[in-house]
Amino acid sequence: MKILLGVSGGIAAYKACDLVSLANKQGHQVQVVMTASATRFVTPLSFEALSGRPVMTSTWEGVGNPGIDHIEVAKWADVACVAPCSANTMGKLACGIADDALSTVWMALRRGTQCVIAPAMNTEMWLNPVVQRNRRWLEELGRYHFVEPVEKRLACGDIGIGALADTSSVLDTISTVGNLK
Ligand SMILES: Cc1cc2nc3c(=O)[nH]c(=O)nc-3n(C[C@H](O)[C@H](O)[C@H](O)COP(=O)(O)O)c2cc1C
Repeated sequence: MKILLGVSGGIAAYKACDLVSLANKQGHQVQVVMTASATRFVTPLSFEALSGRPVMTSTWEGVGNPGIDHIEVAKWADVACVAPCSANTMGKLACGIADDALSTVWMALRRGTQCVIAPAMNTEMWLNPVVQRNRRWLEELGRYHFVEPVEKRLACGDIGIGALADTSSVLDTISTVGNLK
């Protein structure tokens, strides 16, 4: 399966490296798209080494497609996933904002392409009514499938819901959702 993996800016970005590695072991191809904030947590080079493909971090610098990158990358995908998905990126996807590589590629996804969202954030951020409304809005569209964040001690020191779900359960959901189309 061709998996488009969006990585947004949170501590859990490093766990997306595991996800790429696990997906590769299972025979999937992974194209990573990172937000600018995500690159502050993990370098694109890590994902390039793990995925064997150039990482897209900008709509202005190509990843080697003959056409327009954000369209070609979106077309390539059998299934999409944002893990970790920040509160900000969730908001952008819910509101139709396309102002960076990730949100622009996601806007260009083919109509049938399903998308897994694996949020990771502080408990108060996750429980913020705006974030919960964005989640509902996305779910109502039918193409977005959430993997619930889990409860544990978070990077900020708080104990509560908001940690990225296990990478294996994120990948299981990607496989299930990818077969829906
Ligand atoms: C140390 C640190 C950790 C952060 N962790 C998270 C996080 O886990 N989840 C989240 O939604 N935002 C987190 N943020 C805030 C985001 O990085 C910020 O909202 C950013 O604008 C997200 O941009 P993006 O959605 O384009 O990646 C963190 C910020 C910092 C400085």
